[in-house]
Parts: sequence; structure tokens; C-alpha cells
Amino acid sequence: MFSKETIQKFQNTPTPFYYYDLGMLGGTLDALKKESVKYGYHVHYALKANANNEILSVIQQAGLGADCVSGNEVKKAGEHNFEKIFFAGVGKSDEEINTALDKNISCFNCESLQEIEVINELANKRNKIAPIAFRINPNVNANTHKYITTGLEENKFGINLWELEEVVKRTQQLKNIKITGIHFHIGSQITDLSAYKSLCLRANEIQSWFVSHKVPLEHINVGGGLGVDYHTPDKNLIPDFSSYFSLFNQFLELRPKQTLHFEIGRAIVAQCGSLISKVLFVKKGVSTNFVILDAGMTELIRPALYQSYHKIENISQIQYPTSNTQYLKYDVVGPICESSDCFGKAVMLPETKRGDLIAIRTTGAYGEVMSSQYNLREKAKAVYSV
Ligand code: LLP
Repeated sequence: MFSKETIQKFQNTPTPFYYYDLGMLGGTLDALKKESVKYGYHVHYALKANANNEILSVIQQAGLGADCVSGNEVKKAGEHNFEKIFFAGVGKSDEEINTALDKNISCFNCESLQEIEVINELANKRNKIAPIAFRINPNVNANTHKYITTGLEENKFGINLWELEEVVKRTQQLKNIKITGIHFHIGSQITDLSAYKSLCLRANEIQSWFVSHKVPLEHINVGGGLGVDYHTPDKNLIPDFSSYFSLFNQFLELRPKQTLHFEIGRAIVAQCGSLISKVLFVKKGVSTNFVILDAGMTELIRPALYQSYHKIENISQIQYPTSNTQYLKYDVVGPICESSDCFGKAVMLPETKRGDLIAIRTTGAYGEVMSSQYNLREKAKAVYSV
């Protein structure tokens, strides 16, 4: 997947760093747009997945809206001239709400009555009408990792179905609020598309409730969560947007003039990014060998936090594989003083040496954005293909 020229360029770049293939990002956006425009769907990019300026410029130019979860993300989306900005999050501070009101964003996705009342009060002080959508907890299982499941009643997210009537009635009385839509998000890294079918069916029921209560909805927002292939990235660099959007077209009933919105993060940026690191040492353990990298959980926390799998490649050695290239089993670890600082156990790699370059694949989403300066480490730089 990396050309020889690219690997040569890597050799002169201080490690660790994130490498982003902007051409691949462009190709992914083309595929996404081709499939979403078929149905007139609106896609918002979830900035939380990766908020690098270069990445945001490419995505904004593709004409996507923005999905933000903090005041700073709203500001950043504004700086990049994203047109339709949605602001979600279970705990928006007054300052963040004011930032979003001042930017005249398209919609606040609201998770409780108390939040809606505060938005009303702050909008009133600014003499504005705030457009809002109710984030409803649909109680649909996304069949994904429990830390990134959000649409079950036991999760902290959204307004529960049994509270809906009271929340809607009270909201209708608020002078500085305009109800514009309903919002769902059931989780992330969803690979079983039947979860989305369940969401559509539940959304149809909820929509009927709004119709019977004569509350018009301009839009429905079904969130994000489409998963990517972490195990064999090169086989599926571009997610199956065709099946994804056509499923919504098949099962979600839109009313006349109603628009359908998506908030996609991972599926847009995951495959275009790799964390590139250098082998510091190769160490013999009792039952395994350790490859010790100069990147750690500070640069990429997903394996430690979610036990997530990322494909690991020795890109110095796979450049010139021969029939006698010997593959050995290694635990690939970082330099941080935590046992969870491990990128992969029993990983088969060509015999690996100090100074080899290692690529940790599919790290364009929730990689760099979740990095930390624990141990007073430097923030890894980003490098872009042209
Ligand atoms: N909309 C809402 C309301 C969300 O909470 C999220 C992600 C998205 C959209 C975008 O979801 P995506 O299309 O990227 O799956 N750090 C975790 C993922 C956390 C996702 C949080 N919410 C990870 O590394 O897997």
C-alpha cells in the first residue's frame, strides 16, 4: 500500500508521525457523494474523528456539513466555512451554547429537557430562535463494542422514549426554540447493517408519533457509526456506502420535503491514516519477542482502551520480500510505563530489526485526536501525501 518513494520519504522524517493519504481521502469522499446524492441525503462530517486542518479542507471542499461535539469544534467548523453545522453532546456548557448561537448553526441536537431550557434562556438573551432536534434514545442495539454503544436505554445518551411526550410538550411552549428534527446515533464501528434496519423501523414508529401529535419535522438525523475494515484494510479501503445508503432508502419513511441527515466520521477518514513508527529495540521475552516502538498509547490509545485491532506492518522489510523472508511472532509494544501500552500480541512480521519502520494502519479516525502528552511526550506530527 505504500510506494517505495513514500517509504523512502518516511526514512527522513522524524518518527512517530501520522501519515495521511489525501488522495485516498478524496477517493473515499467521491464514493460517498456518488451514493448519497442518489437519494438527496445530507452528510455531515463528524469532526471528532479527525480535526486536522488539511483533512477538514478536503472534506469541506467536497461539500459536506459538519457534526460538532464541542464549542471548539463549532469554531473550527466555522473557520473552515462548513455550511451546515450541527452541535451534539450530552453536556454542552453555557459558553459552548453561546458560541454556537453566535455562529447561527443549523441545529442543536438536544439530549434533555433541562438542556433545551438553558438553550432557550441563552437564545432569549441574544434575541435569537435556536433550531433544535431531539436526540432520542431508540433502544436499538448496535452490536458493537460496549464503550461505543450509545443507543440503549442504559446509556447516558438521548431522551428516552417514555419521556418524549413531556419533553416535546414543554419544548413547544418555549419562545426561543424551534423544533426542526429528531436525531439518533446508536454507536460506532457498526459492521452489522441490520442494526441500521432496526433503527429505521424504530425511527418510523417515532416519526408516526410526531405526526399524530401534529409536530412537523423538517429533518431526520440518523447519526453515524458505519464501520471500516481494520483486519484487511487494503481489500476494503472504501467502505460500502452503496449498501449503507440504499438500506436507509429502503427502510426509512421520509415525509414530503423532509431531509435525511447522516453524521459520519470514521468511515470517511479511518483508512487514509497510518501511524508510522520506528523500532527502538527488539527484546527476547520468556515466550515471545517484543518489538518496542517509539510510538505508544500516547499516540494511539484505541488498542489499550477498546482492545481494538489495527493491522501492523513492517514496511522496511516488506519492501523487498523474498521466498526465504522469515516471519516471526512478536508482541508489538510502545515505550510507555503501562502494560496496556501494547499495539498487538503475537503479530506475524518479517524478522524485525532496530530502525525498521512500522505502519499501524487504519488510524485516520480517533487516532491523532485522542492522543495525549502523558509522560510529557511530544505530540506526534502529521505528514500528508500531496
Ligand atoms: N454522531 C454522534 C452523536 C456521535 O457520538 C458519533 C461518534 C458520531 C456521530 C460519529 O460516529 P462514527 O461515524 O465516527 O462512528 N473513540 C471511539 C469512537 C467514539 C465515537 C463517538 N461518537 C473509537 O476510537 O472507536
